[in-house]
Amino acid sequence: MGRISDVDVQRVREATDLVSLISERIVLKPKGRLFWGLCPFHGEKTPSFKVDPGTQLWHCFGCGKGGDAFGFVIESDKVDFPDAVRLLADRANIDIVEESGGAPRGRKERLFAACEEAANYYHKTLTSSRDAGPKTARDYLSKRGFGSEVAKGWRLGYAPGRGVLVRHLTEQGFSADEMVDANLALRTDGGQLRDRFYERIMFPIVDLQGRYIAFGGRVVEKGEPKYLNTNDTPVFRKSANMYGIDRAKASITSTGDAIVVEGYTDVIALHEEGITNAVATLGTALTQQHLKLLGRFARRIIYLFDGDEAGMRAADRAAEFVDVYSTEAHREHRLELNAAVVPDGQDPADFVKARGKQGLVELVGEAVPLLRFSIDRRLARWDLERPEERARALKEAAEVLAPVKDSLLADDYANYIASRLFADFATVRRAISSTRPQPARAEVPEEGGQAETPKRVVQHTPRTRAELELLSLLVAEARLRGRARKLLAMGLLSSAEHQAMAEVLSEAGEAAGASEINGALEKRVPGAIEELAGARFGESSAEADALADGLTRRLKEFELERRIAVGKAALDQGAPATDAMDYNAVFREVSTLQRTLDALRRGEDVPDQELEARN
Ligand code: UTP
Ligand code: MN
Repeated sequence: MGRISDVDVQRVREATDLVSLISERIVLKPKGRLFWGLCPFHGEKTPSFKVDPGTQLWHCFGCGKGGDAFGFVIESDKVDFPDAVRLLADRANIDIVEESGGAPRGRKERLFAACEEAANYYHKTLTSSRDAGPKTARDYLSKRGFGSEVAKGWRLGYAPGRGVLVRHLTEQGFSADEMVDANLALRTDGGQLRDRFYERIMFPIVDLQGRYIAFGGRVVEKGEPKYLNTNDTPVFRKSANMYGIDRAKASITSTGDAIVVEGYTDVIALHEEGITNAVATLGTALTQQHLKLLGRFARRIIYLFDGDEAGMRAADRAAEFVDVYSTEAHREHRLELNAAVVPDGQDPADFVKARGKQGLVELVGEAVPLLRFSIDRRLARWDLERPEERARALKEAAEVLAPVKDSLLADDYANYIASRLFADFATVRRAISSTRPQPARAEVPEEGGQAETPKRVVQHTPRTRAELELLSLLVAEARLRGRARKLLAMGLLSSAEHQAMAEVLSEAGEAAGASEINGALEKRVPGAIEELAGARFGESSAEADALADGLTRRLKEFELERRIAVGKAALDQGAPATDAMDYNAVFREVSTLQRTLDALRRGEDVPDQELEARN
């Protein structure tokens, strides 16, 4: 995908209301002119996450993170800046022009449209065709508890094959290339088009934004392969999408838990029982990208493995998912990964049918951290009563910890293994240290993956804090922006960055909205947004004008103190050498400054000109 123009970035920024964006993810309560909620980026029990509708900035006083709408999406969805712009553009229904590379946006839109049309067509076929195929499919589905309501709710369909879909899509104006690119049709050697899916029950796959992107097709009753899935296309990646994520995301966000199951039918069965935070991988193991996707919404993932043989094998490999997400270095992005096996060879759909919602909730409650789960499964293979088997068990269990061997977690689990094996901690610790890191797993490279630039850590003094407070007040209150020029003239801003911000504010004038200004500020002073987001003003109910007056007085005080200190230093140092005239001039200057400062401290008004003249 190509570069997004500044104009488009700005359009998206202006079309996005920060309070409504964040309200889609967390509960915000209004207080004064601000909104507060529990910070989604670190665990907390009392709200220290502030959203300011005036400045269109957010900030958490707990973990120190803050920024604008893009920053929020980057932080919470773990995406880079261009993707944040794309996501917010989608949300605001804004078409952005990408300057070069990748499939043009219009083309992708065509593929979404083709998939949606196909889903509608398959659905209509399943629900209203009198042919034998769809009728058998309907019977089969209702036998499994998926009646017409369920079919409707999940837009299940039936693909008859034999070119029926190709004909339909052609009539609807889709080109051969579009059908092939969406993997809805295949080109035969003779160049003819044929349907990709034949005589299958169709499960449409929908992305986060609710767009149709792919299908899973199941044979009716028995047959091979049981499922046929859409291959990767420009709009679908099997390793990064999940079945049900569009419906589950709200519930995952509100509960913090995502339940990951293996099958389409499991997702449907769980949702129909009221467990609405379930999603499934699409015939693959859980990948890094899945974790990243879920990590946008979840704090904890509960992976439910099928109790059949394949599920058990997957469970035994489970430790492979343990990776960077579990290490200390990534604590802030840490996703808790838990796992459980569905008992008695069942899959989650069977289980929930037999034991109901309550049974499943209990099963989820019994899930254990993935590391512990993997260690247990390895230990279970050996007879721990026998010393030689204990040695093998130790080796295997230690291997599980290889990816995290330098973290504190490894110590916790070393203790655990020691207790299970009647071994001492040091022995286990040694076994862990000597495990070699496992060969890197083949991973689909991440798109647009970029090293994060380390954040500039700004140490604030009371003065720079006050400057920022005042600057952000000027972002929020258009009619006060004229003061920016004054601040510069009086020399009240101590750093080049703050001065540059004031210049932007004064150039922007009263007509500009907060979002527009934020864009200009960030452009001129990278990092400005994050800095300004930390302002505390608005927490009290003081009027903006009074607040601005108070802050200006504070800044005058700071500046007078500084000038006095500079003057005194000159007097101290230069006293013997300086000629008397200069010395006296500086002395008089310092005295005047001191008197002005005293007056200010007594609460008297110090005209701006006093500071301007001597700046
Ligand atoms: P299952 O065989 O458990 O299927 O495979 P299921 O979804 O539970 O379906 P039912 O209940 O038996 O009808 C789990 C998942 O693995 C993928 C599919 O995504 C399926 O939902 N799979 C399975 C395939 O991609 N291809 C296959 O041939 C089989
Ligand atoms: Mn299954």
